[in-house]
Amino acid sequence: MNERLVVSESELARQRDFAARVRALPERPRSFHVVTMGCQMNERDSETIAGMLVEMGLRPERVRERADLILYNTCCVRENAENRALGNVIWLKELKKERPELLICVGGCMAQEAGMAERIKAMYPFIDLVFGTHNMHRLPEYLCRVLEERRQVVEVAQSDGVIAEGLPQERVSPFSAFVNIMYGCNNFCSYCIVPYVRGRERSREPEAVLEECKRLVDEGVQEIMLLGQNVNSYRGGGSEFAELLRRVDALGVPRIRFMTSHPKDLSDELIAAYGELAHLMPALHLPVQAGNDEILREMNRRYTRAHYLELVNKLRSVRPDVGLTSDIIVGFPGETEAQFEDTLSLVREVRYDSAFTFIYSRRAGTKAAQMPDPTPQEEKTERIQRLIALQTEITSEILSSQVGKRETVLVESVSARDEGWVGGKTPRGHMVNFPGNADLIGKFVRVEIRSAGRNTLRGRQITEV
Ligand code: 5AD
Ligand code: SF4
Repeated sequence: MNERLVVSESELARQRDFAARVRALPERPRSFHVVTMGCQMNERDSETIAGMLVEMGLRPERVRERADLILYNTCCVRENAENRALGNVIWLKELKKERPELLICVGGCMAQEAGMAERIKAMYPFIDLVFGTHNMHRLPEYLCRVLEERRQVVEVAQSDGVIAEGLPQERVSPFSAFVNIMYGCNNFCSYCIVPYVRGRERSREPEAVLEECKRLVDEGVQEIMLLGQNVNSYRGGGSEFAELLRRVDALGVPRIRFMTSHPKDLSDELIAAYGELAHLMPALHLPVQAGNDEILREMNRRYTRAHYLELVNKLRSVRPDVGLTSDIIVGFPGETEAQFEDTLSLVREVRYDSAFTFIYSRRAGTKAAQMPDPTPQEEKTERIQRLIALQTEITSEILSSQVGKRETVLVESVSARDEGWVGGKTPRGHMVNFPGNADLIGKFVRVEIRSAGRNTLRGRQITEV
């Protein structure tokens, strides 16, 4: 491990001192609310942010408007995510007029974006603190400065990224946990801003990952989601992802999932793991982005449609019940109707359980931002609607084919619509709702699937001998 990548123990101790200093301030915020936008990596970061805020003596406040400190952990992967974040922050300006002591903080990917810190300084003086993705571990120091010096602090480090081990965290779920295994991305898909805001790929040491997983298992966690922008290029302490997965599996955590997987790096060893590892769930998020080779090349994805389909076949021969999900972009610059139809035909061929579909969003600084993009927006909207209609049909057929099966469900929550119902996921990742009460949350329950809706299944609890 490159020592320069890892935040030193003395720096972490320095931050703990700042946390203690904040705690001792007579006038300081007492409660916080974190709003998380974007992906699971951000969700995991928010747990660390919450952990640091708790260390500084603040308590979580469920109702945003009541909190003394509101922190936005932002996303910038598409323009609308960014507009939503900025819109929210502008709304906070009004709240601050009523409660001048309110502290507003903005962190995460949007804050890290080139030019954004300057823009915030110039246009949003009511924001108290802006920090990027590379210096999140220094939140105690920055907050201390905001409180002691009573001025706006904008700190966005230009860096390839670091790894900070041992930061506190406040986990959202007691039974399901995110564990980062690597950070950053080196792929530079031509449309994507992530490599610019999340830095270069860097993997945690396998021992650090395993120790964290072990602790979670001891705490009663039933499901671990290993996280990375591209887990398939994990290279920690010389071991590859499939090997790390084997070692996590050996810890005995009941359910293991991971995301995200880049098709170009999906190894035969990892495919084999799907046939061998007892706790690896039969589900894989394998974003294809597009079904046409020329578009895939322009996207710099570095695989072909045929290669992708071959991976799907291999995986299904090892694990026929595997549920596949995907990310798909519609309307990449220059995408023709015929090229888009290749995406539709790929979706028909693969038959995903579900897919996240996006209209291409131009991100300044990326390669695709330079490409001519003559297709009118209405046409892109029409394309995505066709894609969504197709995927909805496939999802519903797959869900219907589950009716009559008996599944083990890890119960996650009480249904928002029906109080006497709970919901949880099958190993493949299908959401099942069934009559039950909150006592079941965090437990495994055998359920018979009775009917299928558009996105979820319905069932009833069964006892088996
Ligand atoms: N426009 C639209 N979708 C994008 N994604 C990433 N960048 C863009 C963009 N510029 C999508 C990809 C990726 C997912 C997380 O977001 O599909 O897999
Ligand atoms: Fe973006 Fe591609 Fe990296 Fe995913 S693999 S974060 S889409 S550059």
